[in-house]
Amino acid sequence: MNDSRDRFGRWIDCLLDPSRSPGDQRQAAQEWCEWGLDLLGVDENELATRPDAFSADCRLPIGKAISPLGAARCVREYRRTAVFLQAMDAALRCARKRFPGERIHVLEAGCGPLAPLALPFALRYPPDEVIFSLLDLHPIAIEGTRRMARELGVRESVRGYLAADATTIQFSEPDRPHVIACEVLLRALKSEPQVAATRNLAPQLRRGGIFLPERIDVDAGLFDQAKWTRALTSPMKEGEEGLSPIQELGRVFGLDASAVNELQPRGAGRFAATAVNVPPHDPERTPLHLFTRIRVFGDHRLGDFDSSLNLPERVKYPAALAVKGGLVEFYYEVSADPGLRLVGLTASGSNR
Ligand SMILES: C[S@@+](CC[C@H](N)C(=O)[O-])C[C@H]1O[C@@H](n2cnc3c(N)ncnc32)[C@H](O)[C@@H]1O
Repeated sequence: MNDSRDRFGRWIDCLLDPSRSPGDQRQAAQEWCEWGLDLLGVDENELATRPDAFSADCRLPIGKAISPLGAARCVREYRRTAVFLQAMDAALRCARKRFPGERIHVLEAGCGPLAPLALPFALRYPPDEVIFSLLDLHPIAIEGTRRMARELGVRESVRGYLAADATTIQFSEPDRPHVIACEVLLRALKSEPQVAATRNLAPQLRRGGIFLPERIDVDAGLFDQAKWTRALTSPMKEGEEGLSPIQELGRVFGLDASAVNELQPRGAGRFAATAVNVPPHDPERTPLHLFTRIRVFGDHRLGDFDSSLNLPERVKYPAALAVKGGLVEFYYEVSADPGLRLVGLTASGSNR
């Protein structure tokens, strides 16, 4: 086994093993990212002063495609990377049971230059059992994945390198994937095109196929940051739920990959979201936030504070809401800057 394969295999073993310590997993993810950037000849310090195509985001009419550098750095979010890898591992096992005797076709859409949800499994399965398509909007990211696949000796496992848009690409019947992993995501489903990509790709799975993440929920709540900071230093004991830093107010929006066609249009480029009742509150101490909860596959989930994708997102709203409380309505907008928008509010006691 070559040195790269050997080291790569150890990082992946570590991240796939839920019993490994956060410290070990953080180190594995760091080393993986550094190794990848080294292999591509990328010097992060130099890019900070002299940006180039590798460090440039791309703005699209449906959201931002973060730069190849930004995408590679995502691997360092070790908890996110570990949970996605464990979910992919489980999804592949499940797909092999669901499609006995078939060669499983996996698409990583928005793979960045390291293709972290595909190449680890190219190393673990022979190409006659599992084959991968790697897709990214940035051609330079796709060039990166070619280099990675060569270094790892898994070129035969890659069926296609696709410099294409995940929100518009169409697969012919024989090319439909059995498994699609697509993480083009930011907290509260903002800025990046996860909704548009899921709507385009999930219906193109083979019947019975698997899409990761399976479900993303955005919930509203009043968030007490001071209480949360205190809970970090002295964790809650059983029966102390009342001390939770989040007062849950309900689901605002859900993106279920198996039911994307059920999103209700609300005018051009808009989807309906659910209104939530917000009680009167102190806007300084417990402002309204959105919480992003992700079921990647089965029991593999990313919850509050697990990664940057799950950080609370503060909502901007009129001061009157905090004083009187009321019903807050949202919609989800698919645009160059996608995300949830507050459409209006009905103050408590008013009859709008
Ligand atoms: C958050 S990174 C994720 C990288 C990798 N899949 C991972 O999980 O670490 C998102 C990647 O998706 C790509 N991307 C964003 N929008 C895209 C689109 N519409 N079509 C194809 N790729 C897209 C970006 O270029 C970036 O490489």
